[in-house]
Amino acid sequence: MLCLGVLASGRGSNFQAIIDAISTGKIKAQIRLLIVDNPAAYAIERAKKHAIEHLYLDPSKYPNKDTYFSVIADELKRRNVDLVVLAGFMRIVKKPLLDAYPNKIMNIHPALLPSFPGLHGQKDAVDYGVRISGCTVHFVDEGIDTGPIIIQAAVVVSPDDTEEELAKRILTLEHKIYPEAIKLYSEGRLKVEGRKVKILGYQLPSDTIINPPLSQ
Ligand code: GRF
Repeated sequence: MLCLGVLASGRGSNFQAIIDAISTGKIKAQIRLLIVDNPAAYAIERAKKHAIEHLYLDPSKYPNKDTYFSVIADELKRRNVDLVVLAGFMRIVKKPLLDAYPNKIMNIHPALLPSFPGLHGQKDAVDYGVRISGCTVHFVDEGIDTGPIIIQAAVVVSPDDTEEELAKRILTLEHKIYPEAIKLYSEGRLKVEGRKVKILGYQLPSDTIINPPLSQ
């Protein structure tokens, strides 16, 4: 069975969505370990509640970022983790972890990449005035939110939206597409070819979203 290692820094609602998808049998996997870089992360409470091992690794205790990430890689490997899931992990992953898990680290970002990468995806979308935004699950590479895209989901944006309102609508979708991406991975259906991720056995739908809709 697929073994997951989750990295988080905060609230962990995506972590919870993955826990729930495993409990209901949607995903055939087990979470071996939660690693946090913040001792106050609420994700720790979720791990405790579900009897998932957790580990706080304090970045300030390591001489540099590479060492920090090589310790993370060692902890994950020691527990036979197959896939690393970033769930609100607020650090850029460095080479030692990328090398240990090539195309085996996923992240979720609250915008339609490559638009609005970085820390404020929802605010940047609202401020820019886009009509459609959403979220993206992607494999992690050395860049900031630049790796091959696995799934995207869209929401319409109103000019009156606040960052908080948009973030809430996007988060609801995040909780759907992150478990789905992990499910596809667990079924061996994701094939990375350069920048592109092929999904085996997937029929392209014909849906479109036009916002505002065409007039009658
Ligand atoms: C989410 O919006 C996710 O897209 C971003 O960080 C946030 C984490 O939220 N990468 P949570 O900790 O999963 O609740």
